[in-house]
Amino acid sequence: MDLAGKKIVLGLTGGIACYKAAELTRALIAAGAQVQVVMTEAATRFITAVTMQALSGRTVYVDQWDSRVANNMPHIDPTRDADAIVIAPCSADFLSKLVHGSCDDLLSTLCVARPAQVRLFIAPAMNVEMWQNPATQRNARQAAEDGITLLGPAAGAQACGETGMGRMLEPADLLEELVCAFAPKVLAGKKVLVTAGPTFEPIDPVRGITNHSSGKMGYAVARAARHAGATVTLVSGPVSLPTPAGVHRINVQSAQQMHDAVMATIAGQQVFIAVAAVADWRVANASTQKLKKQGNGSMPQLRFEQNPDILAAVAALPAGPYCVGFAAESENLIENGRAKRERKSVPLLVGNLGPSTFGQDTNELVLFDESGHVTLPAGDKQALARDLVKEIARRLALAPSSPAAPAASAKEHRKRTA
Ligand code: C5P
Repeated sequence: MDLAGKKIVLGLTGGIACYKAAELTRALIAAGAQVQVVMTEAATRFITAVTMQALSGRTVYVDQWDSRVANNMPHIDPTRDADAIVIAPCSADFLSKLVHGSCDDLLSTLCVARPAQVRLFIAPAMNVEMWQNPATQRNARQAAEDGITLLGPAAGAQACGETGMGRMLEPADLLEELVCAFAPKVLAGKKVLVTAGPTFEPIDPVRGITNHSSGKMGYAVARAARHAGATVTLVSGPVSLPTPAGVHRINVQSAQQMHDAVMATIAGQQVFIAVAAVADWRVANASTQKLKKQGNGSMPQLRFEQNPDILAAVAALPAGPYCVGFAAESENLIENGRAKRERKSVPLLVGNLGPSTFGQDTNELVLFDESGHVTLPAGDKQALARDLVKEIARRLALAPSSPAAPAASAKEHRKRTA
């Protein structure tokens, strides 16, 4: 789980977006976090403490004189072992209080009294005019300068009937940003290019040859790389997945288009991860018009030609990026994986269990490098992607073109993969 063990103080301030805080609470808990809700008096006008208590499973605090806290210090205790305070929704008034250091209620006092290591995130939510007001804009800039992380707001239709900036981010987007904020930045400053999904090789304008790749593993890798601090470009075949937040996506159909898109963006990339299930052949005599059924029973005669091997082409680039290939094997994973790594001339090849994993949320990965192979604990594709990114970052630091790597890590690396 992405936020396993994280302790979050979720602060609600007065705004209609309070209804989204209920869903955010569930999402945070589902991601493994412990959620302590604190509400302002105004927030209780929009959603009840009872609702938030039922969802968070913990006593909700509103009043700074709340005597249910044993030492009578509700403005201190909740943040002492917390990882973050998240104010969602954050009203214009509360933003103003934060930048002025006001502490006239429990939530604002908690924020001012938080230890330095407790990060403060705010999700502004207000009417478009309130957000655009110069005072609010000034406060938002000041908040960022003070080390407060602003999540949003987004633009769109507002509860008041007006349209524009000021909508609170959706709970799923807030969760994504928090997961990203907590992920170790093992690829900070790196540029990573990922291919994902199947390719589609046309036979005619309505038909084509493709495969069962869902793109889930490649998208999980792109997301994990972004969480790890990388600037990520995702060259994607046709899939029905949303683009991971903060990732630049280039859509392609055929293997040739995927090759061309990769080659056009490869300069300056430090890591290339080829997760796509690329068609080995394309139809050489694809028709520009729809093939008609022949009355005499004759069949279309398709001829095939080889597609470019994108991974091999990138691996052959002089001073190219650190290359990671994927191999889906239905049998003899270990022998085939080892052989494929050498054939493809890549430093790291990731074997997985072949067609049975297509479309599934779980996978099993075996990593092959120059010193042997290591199996990652089986799990969901996102958790595996996170582990894989860590493994890539570790090897990247050891790679010859990278800045000096500590000798201890090299030793540990040999031990793990022997
Ligand atoms: O040879 P095979 O198709 O099994 O190799 C799989 C690996 O090579 C994957 O990383 C895949 O993305 C990549 N590949 C490629 N271009 C191709 C075929 C495979 O980049 N034409």
